Amino acid sequence: VRLFSNFQSQVIFSNELPREGFERAGSFLLYDEIFASKDGENQELKAWIQEFKYSMAVPSGEDLKDFKNFPKYLELFIKKGGESLSRNHSLVVLGGGSLGDFGGFVASIIKRGVNLIQIPSTWLAAMDSAHGGKNGLNYGQLKNQLGTFYPAEKVFIVRPLLDSVPDEIKEQSYGELVKMGLVGSSQYFKDLMLEQRPALEFMWRFLGPCIEDKYAVVLQDPYETQEVRQVLNFGHTLGHVLEAHFGWSHGDSVLQGLFFALAWSVEKGFLSKHLHQQILKALSEKMDRAPATALAWYRPPAARVFHKKLLGDKKRDASGELLFVFLKNIGQPHMERVSVDAIVAEAQRQGWVR
Ligand SMILES: NC(=O)c1ccc[n+]([C@@H]2O[C@H](COP(=O)([O-])OP(=O)(O)OC[C@H]3O[C@@H](n4cnc5c(N)ncnc54)[C@H](O)[C@@H]3O)[C@@H](O)[C@H]2O)c1
Repeated sequence: VRLFSNFQSQVIFSNELPREGFERAGSFLLYDEIFASKDGENQELKAWIQEFKYSMAVPSGEDLKDFKNFPKYLELFIKKGGESLSRNHSLVVLGGGSLGDFGGFVASIIKRGVNLIQIPSTWLAAMDSAHGGKNGLNYGQLKNQLGTFYPAEKVFIVRPLLDSVPDEIKEQSYGELVKMGLVGSSQYFKDLMLEQRPALEFMWRFLGPCIEDKYAVVLQDPYETQEVRQVLNFGHTLGHVLEAHFGWSHGDSVLQGLFFALAWSVEKGFLSKHLHQQILKALSEKMDRAPATALAWYRPPAARVFHKKLLGDKKRDASGELLFVFLKNIGQPHMERVSVDAIVAEAQRQGWVR
C-alpha cells in the first residue's frame, strides 16, 4: 500500500490540452472512446491523442467499472503498452468519472503504482471525482466495492473540453455540485439561490469553489477514518440504490438522494421547513429538478428491493448501521448512525418505495 501524505493534487486550469507537466515519451493515455468515434469532429483532440505512443480507448460507464470486465480490459491495457510503464511514467486518463475510477485503480496497481494524471472530460469529474484520490470498481450490483486511495499527481481542467460537453451531460453534475454547495464552506450555493439565470449559464463560477471545498474536506480526513470525509456521501446512500436499481446516471441519482436526505433532515427537526423550501425552489428554478417521487412517471419499487441493496452498502458498520448525512443549515452537515430499517421506513414515508 502506498500511503500518501498529501492528497492535494496539483490542479491546473488550462485553455488547451496539456503537452507538458508530465513525461510524455513513455506515458500511456487511457481515453473515452467517444473521442475516437466522432469522425471529423475535434481534430485537435484527435491529433493530441495520436501524439501518445501508448494509448487505449474504452467505453465509458458502469460496465467499464464492472469487476467482471476488469480482466479483459486489464489484459488489453497490458497488450497496448501498459507492460512498458514504469514507476516514473504516467497513466493519463481523459474521460468522465467512470474512466477516472477505472484508470485510477489501474494506475494504483500496475507496477505497484505509476503516476496518475487526470484530465476530466465531464463536469462531474472536473468538480468532484478527479479529486480526492478515490477510485473504484463495482462488484455485482454494488458500487465501488473494490478500490484504492490513489490521488492524481495533477488534474488538468481544460476549458474548451468542458465547454464542449452537451447540456444534458453537464446537468448530470448537478448532484455533486449541489451536494458540495450544501455541505461545503463556501458561499456558492447561497449565490445560486440569489441568481436569476439558469445554473447552466454560470457553471464556471461554481467550479473553483466546488473543487476547493472538496479538498478542504479530503485533506482533513484523506483515508476516511475520522468521520469527516463521510460528509461527501451526502445524498449517496439512497443515490447509490437508485443508480443500481434504475440505471440512472450517478449525478442524477445523487441529486435524488439529496432530496431524500433533505426531507429526512426536516422530519428529524434538523433543517427548517423554510430553508428546505428555499433549496427546493432554487433547484426547481435554476436546475429544473424536483424529487422523482413528485413526478407522475415514478414507480416506487418494493421496500425489500431497497432493503437488500442498502445491506450491501460498504459504509455499513458491523452493527448493520450506516453513518447517514443530514443537513442542519447550508454548510452545516450533521452525521448520525441509522439502521437500514430506519432508512427503508423513511423511504417508504417519502414514497421512494412501497
Ligand atoms: N472517485 C470519486 O471520488 C467519485 C466521485 C463521484 C463520482 N464517481 C463516479 O463517477 C462516475 C460518474 O461520472 P460521469 O458522470 O463523469 O460518468 P461517465 O464517465 O460515465 O460519463 C458520462 C457520459 O458522458 C460522456 N462524456 C464524457 N466526456 C464527454 C465530453 N467531453 N463530451 C461529451 N460526452 C462526454 C461519456 O461517454 C458518458 O456517456 C460514476 O461511476 C461514479 O461512481 C467517483
